[in-house]
Amino acid sequence: MKRIKQLIFTAGLVCSVVMIIFTACTKEGPQGPAGPAGKDGTNGTNGKDANATCTQCHNWSDSLVTKIFQYDASRHSLGETTFEGTRTSCAPCHTSQGFVECASTGSDTTAAPVYDAAQINCRTCHKIHKTYTNNDWELIVTSGFNPRYDKTVTIDLAADGGGSNLCARCHQPRTTSPWLTNPSSTTDSLKPTSSRWGPHYGAAGVVFAAKGAFEIGTSAFRSTNHKDALSCATCHQAQAQGALVGGHSLWMSNEEEGIKNNVSCKSAGCHSSLGNNTFDVNGKETEIAGMIQTLKVKLAVAGMLDTNTNNLKTGKWYKQKQLAVFWNYKLAFYDKSNGIHNYLYTYDMLQSGIDYMASLGY
Ligand code: HEC
Ligand code: HEC
Ligand code: HEC
Ligand code: HEC
Ligand code: HEC
Repeated sequence: MKRIKQLIFTAGLVCSVVMIIFTACTKEGPQGPAGPAGKDGTNGTNGKDANATCTQCHNWSDSLVTKIFQYDASRHSLGETTFEGTRTSCAPCHTSQGFVECASTGSDTTAAPVYDAAQINCRTCHKIHKTYTNNDWELIVTSGFNPRYDKTVTIDLAADGGGSNLCARCHQPRTTSPWLTNPSSTTDSLKPTSSRWGPHYGAAGVVFAAKGAFEIGTSAFRSTNHKDALSCATCHQAQAQGALVGGHSLWMSNEEEGIKNNVSCKSAGCHSSLGNNTFDVNGKETEIAGMIQTLKVKLAVAGMLDTNTNNLKTGKWYKQKQLAVFWNYKLAFYDKSNGIHNYLYTYDMLQSGIDYMASLGY
């Protein structure tokens, strides 16, 4: 795969060179189409070669190759779930074409299934080959959005240029049915028919934004200020170590090598006393992991959670508040950061659930 890419690159460069030579050596021949705008924006009409802009990226340095190398190690590049694009409701997050389409239409579904789907790649996030200049590195979308679970809510992660909005448009839960219209109710009951009732896998973006949980506590859930100061890229694209962690691999840790890439935690004088290869600032990561486990056990003992599948046991009536606890548990679980994205918000969503289950005797 990598070789093929290198070959294509070489082909691209060779083509450009051949075109230049061809133009220089041929006296006659039909006028070709105008090239893309040159560095000076003159479309090559002043005698300068427009293809010179290609070399802003396709040059003899390793900078582009490095990004591709890192990206190839990311989960995005594997495309394990790209096949889901055959459904218009899944295509916006699981295929490149679907994401680009919906970023422009604002819809949550694609107009048609995406059969010839590409996995998430450079073009999904960057404006590659739009102007053939370094401006092509701009992200295709950085504006805030209305999350799927509630279209009246706005999430705008504007720190660091808004790149987190790009990530969170995909890394957000889907809505579920039946929806909780009165999540604090201890009298209203519902009987979900799907064991998959709950948020979809990608919870990180909303938890980071301090959104998406049912606020069933006695006061509003608090939020850590990571979301106002940092972007997803601050941590996930921090200084790379090969293609194992950081950069465009987006990995925070590598189990085999025992690496936990915490350079971003320690930077800007934030958690400067943190040791090497740990994210456990003041034991908070361990604390949240323990709370997730505690709530899991309570939900299992209460007969709500199937511990084999981690899904809801169906065929029963549940109070809306019990289902709210279940949703919050899953949101914390699928956030996959054990509170690092948003410690206070995750703490409050778990503690309110633990308290309510305890009040029911579990
Ligand atoms: C902003 C940087 C940038 C500029 C400017 C740029 N490219 Fe690219 N090019 C890329 C990236 C990124 C890829 C995709 C690499 C990948 O997916 O592995 C790419 C891929 C390619 C490919 C492989 C086929 C494809 O489309 O994926 C060719 C050929 C190519 N570029 C030619 C050119 C030519 C010719 C120009 C100038 C007219 C140019 N590029 C300008 C960044 C750039
Ligand atoms: C709003 C965006 C979004 C939509 C819509 C969406 N997904 Fe996902 N899905 C994600 C994200 C993000 C992940 C990865 C989350 C993670 O690993 O933290 C994911 C992960 C998955 C996984 C892999 C789980 C694993 O880790 O093994 C499957 C399977 C999946 N989705 C299926 C679907 C299907 C089927 C649909 C349509 C019915 C769908 N998704 C719709 C965003 C979405
Ligand atoms: C999932 C989204 C995503 C994908 C896929 C992705 N990038 Fe990026 N890239 C980002 C973000 C976010 C940044 C941070 C810079 C920003 O916020 O503008 C970035 C930054 C960069 C930069 C630095 C830009 C600058 O202005 O200095 C380069 C170069 C780059 N990416 C190249 C690539 C290449 C090449 C690929 C494909 C192999 C790729 N990216 C794939 C999201 C992505
Ligand atoms: C187009 C939708 C989309 C965008 C945009 C996107 N992601 Fe993803 N991301 C996914 C999906 C889908 C998966 C699961 C991939 C799979 O299994 O195929 C995933 C997987 C991941 C994973 C690995 C998760 C795991 O549990 O293994 C990380 C980390 C990640 N994304 C971070 C980011 C960051 C950071 C950004 C922004 C720079 C971003 N993503 C932008 C859809 C997206
Ligand atoms: C303060 C640093 C930080 C920020 C900011 C951050 N993350 Fe994370 N993220 C982490 C850490 C640490 C983990 C746990 C990873 C581990 O233990 O390997 C993680 C885990 C994840 C995972 C699960 C995949 C994995 O590697 O285990 C996804 C997906 C993810 N983050 C997406 C995002 C998205 C999307 C954003 C922005 C909306 C974001 N993160 C912002 C630090 C951060």
